[in-house]
Amino acid sequence: MTEPVQTPQVFPTRVFSGIQPSGGLTLGNYLGALKRFAEMQKDGVETIYCVVDMHAITVWQDPAKLRQQTREIAAAFLAAGVDPARSILFNQSQVTAHAELAWIFNCVARMGWMNRMTQWKDKAGKNAEAASLGLFAYPALMAADILAYRATHVPVGEDQKQHVELTRDIAIKFNNDFGVNFFPVTEPVIEGVATRVMSLRDGTKKMSKSDPSDQSRINMTDDADTITQKIRKAKTDPEPLPDSIEGLKERPEARNLVNIYAALSRSTPEAVVAEFAGAQFGAFKPKLAELAVSVMAPISDEMNRLMADPAEIDRILGDGADRAEALARPVLDEVHDIVGMIRSRRR
Ligand code: AMP
Ligand code: TRP
Repeated sequence: MTEPVQTPQVFPTRVFSGIQPSGGLTLGNYLGALKRFAEMQKDGVETIYCVVDMHAITVWQDPAKLRQQTREIAAAFLAAGVDPARSILFNQSQVTAHAELAWIFNCVARMGWMNRMTQWKDKAGKNAEAASLGLFAYPALMAADILAYRATHVPVGEDQKQHVELTRDIAIKFNNDFGVNFFPVTEPVIEGVATRVMSLRDGTKKMSKSDPSDQSRINMTDDADTITQKIRKAKTDPEPLPDSIEGLKERPEARNLVNIYAALSRSTPEAVVAEFAGAQFGAFKPKLAELAVSVMAPISDEMNRLMADPAEIDRILGDGADRAEALARPVLDEVHDIVGMIRSRRR
């Protein structure tokens, strides 16, 4: 028997993340993901960001809407501060390496692993028989997104942690099955006070674009009046704000608003509570609304400006896809060699 080759390999720091173009974006997406993506752009770190249109079609998408939403998500990345000169920004389907690697990972991952995914259980619901095969395989495609670049760090919100853990399992199994040390064991980066922004109507539920109540969320495209009105009506309790964060423990709605304030002001929940100790929500909410409008309005204005020139967005995505392809293709070539697939084309 041949010994597995365990060449210690140091993987350079590479950041990858993605967002689905399957509907509008919320304040949760901004604070939990987009804002973090922009902050991770640093000298010496390659940052790769993707609008995952292939993930979106795991549930039905109207083609014209998919195109429009892909551009809108790209505009949101740009407006949130992702700089196409420093980062690679593209839409997934333009780089075919993702689909190719996903197939190989479909053959590495086990049915049992997929069956345990909470997102699968939530989205397929009681009628799993009618769900698409793609929805079940979704996490293998996500692993392919990440590992086609051998990315070491993946910034995401709390809800994506399980999928990044599955990516680690796939990387480890691939390395073990083939006796190589080819894929890094990727770290999820779930940091900050806004890794799970909660609904404005129910502090125990995640703020989500799929919530039937528009009052439950702040959309990235909401105007100043709408933002102010939604915060004014946000569910709270009758107590004033406490003087320490321990006092927020059993108060999910209050805690959520404090966390949102902290994230928007680049501060900490401790500092926010210290500033507003003893204040009633009648006083706190207008301050929060003012802050939210001052941060979100310029971003939504910039998104609107960018959306007025779809050709320019498409150009940025195409340029990003060329650069992404140049990184992913050599990785795929090596994967094919490792797996035992012949490559004899001249290209
Ligand atoms: P999605 O909208 O589900 O495609 O999510 C895109 C990104 O936003 C992922 O990294 C999510 O973890 C993150 N995200 C979505 N909703 C929230 C939320 N309510 N709070 C924090 N992060 C979120
Ligand atoms: N599944 C992620 C979500 O719903 C989106 C996603 C697809 C992603 N591929 C990824 C996130 C790779 C991080 C890395 O939010």
